Amino acid sequence: MMLKLKVYLSFSFLLGVLLVAQAHGSAKEIGFYQLKRGNLKLNLTNYGAIVVSVIVPDKHGNLDDITLGYDDIEQYKNDSWYFGALIGRVANRIGHSRFTLDNHTYKLPANDHGNTLHGGFIGLSDVIWTVKSHKEDSYITFTYDSHDNEQGFLGRLEVTVTYMLLGTDKYGVKMIAKPVDKATPVNLAQHTYWNLGGQNSGDILSHEVQIFGSKITPVDKNLIPTGKFESVKGTPYDFLEPRTVGSRVNELPGLYDINYVLDGNSSRHLRKVVTVRENVSGRKLELWSNQVGVQFYSGGMLNATKGKDGAVYHKHGGMALETQGFPDSLNHPNFPSQIVHPGQTYKHYMVYRLTAC
Ligand SMILES: *[C@@H]1O[C@H](CO)[C@@H](O)[C@H](O)[C@H]1NC(C)=O
Ligand SMILES: *[C@@H]1O[C@H](CO)[C@@H](O)[C@H](O)[C@H]1NC(C)=O
Ligand SMILES: *[C@@H]1O[C@H](CO)[C@@H](O)[C@H](O)[C@H]1NC(C)=O
Ligand SMILES: *[C@@H]1O[C@H](CO)[C@@H](O)[C@H](O)[C@H]1NC(C)=O
Ligand SMILES: *[C@@H]1O[C@H](CO)[C@@H](O)[C@H](O)[C@H]1NC(C)=O
Ligand SMILES: *[C@@H]1O[C@H](CO)[C@@H](O)[C@H](O)[C@H]1NC(C)=O
Repeated sequence: MMLKLKVYLSFSFLLGVLLVAQAHGSAKEIGFYQLKRGNLKLNLTNYGAIVVSVIVPDKHGNLDDITLGYDDIEQYKNDSWYFGALIGRVANRIGHSRFTLDNHTYKLPANDHGNTLHGGFIGLSDVIWTVKSHKEDSYITFTYDSHDNEQGFLGRLEVTVTYMLLGTDKYGVKMIAKPVDKATPVNLAQHTYWNLGGQNSGDILSHEVQIFGSKITPVDKNLIPTGKFESVKGTPYDFLEPRTVGSRVNELPGLYDINYVLDGNSSRHLRKVVTVRENVSGRKLELWSNQVGVQFYSGGMLNATKGKDGAVYHKHGGMALETQGFPDSLNHPNFPSQIVHPGQTYKHYMVYRLTAC
């Protein structure tokens, strides 16, 4: 009995070593990759499928990096803000770190005040992706094969993310996920922080924002949705007409961190999500997506974070516009389901246009 156990243990130990060796083998080296067309330049890494920088001209033709981030991989590994990262398996919060599927309750790692945030302690933003293909003037495709029970999530999941140039002022993100053997929740998101004045230009409170969502999903004190929908009309959340981020932020507990229910017709087609303008640089960002929601985070928790090229990011140093399904959908049957079954494909599209005038 004892011997059998020992043999079994050393076998599983060996198997574990082999699997770890495979996961950290030479095919999994971390690198930086560029996409470039005209004056539009993106720098990406297969660590977390992160967007490291987005460089675009202002109205005078001066080039600036307009996304927050770090100078090296060690800082990305130590990051707690998800700068530029690809988030999954389930972006945003899952209340009480649990959900029920087919009468079984699953427990997840609690990495945020008793809740699960952005896929757990080691989500897709903290793993090394495989570079499937890369063409500098066109696209890069990253893949990741998430194993059964990774961060408590069911079944194997094959994830593919492609960043693609769509012109000299436009790029797209295509996120695809396929469960291999079991139904599993999927809600991916891209977590780039924007500062259209340049990543080292201070706060984003003077940026003008228009969000094409007339409702929000209100939250409790731990940012878990109550399950209700509320009209933004007349509230500090109302960005139906363009307005600066700073104009009413003081009426809130200091920041925006809320999911908007996007207006428009069908989740099958791209719909306009948001327009952001910054008047000094003249830059404008427009975003379209096929998702039902967008989390608007004004960067209000940033506090003296050391970033790229000597920049220090303070409160509201950059804003994130994360298209996705509604937060904590797993625990709200009235929200669109995030369960994907084997044979089905999760598809999330984003298109960014960056112009200046
Ligand atoms: C991409 O960013 C990394 C980290 O800052 C840097 O080492 C690398 O030179 C950059 N690549 C390009 C093409 O800018
Ligand atoms: C890691 O991050 C923490 C805060 O999140 C910071 O205090 C610390 O200096 C960082 N360490 C390194 C090596 O950057
Ligand atoms: C869940 O439990 C209910 C009540 O016992 C039962 O009717 C239903 O078939 C179960 N569903 C699944 C998927 O097992
Ligand atoms: C929905 O589609 C109809 C018909 O195509 C169109 O007239 C309407 O403007 C659309 N609504 C939104 C909010 O996009
Ligand atoms: C930015 O410029 C537009 C167009 O000139 C103007 O309507 C708007 O008020 C300006 N916004 C700010 C915050 O200065
Ligand atoms: C920012 O960090 C400093 C140093 O850790 C701390 O004293 C301060 O309270 C923080 N401010 C906020 C708003 O969290």
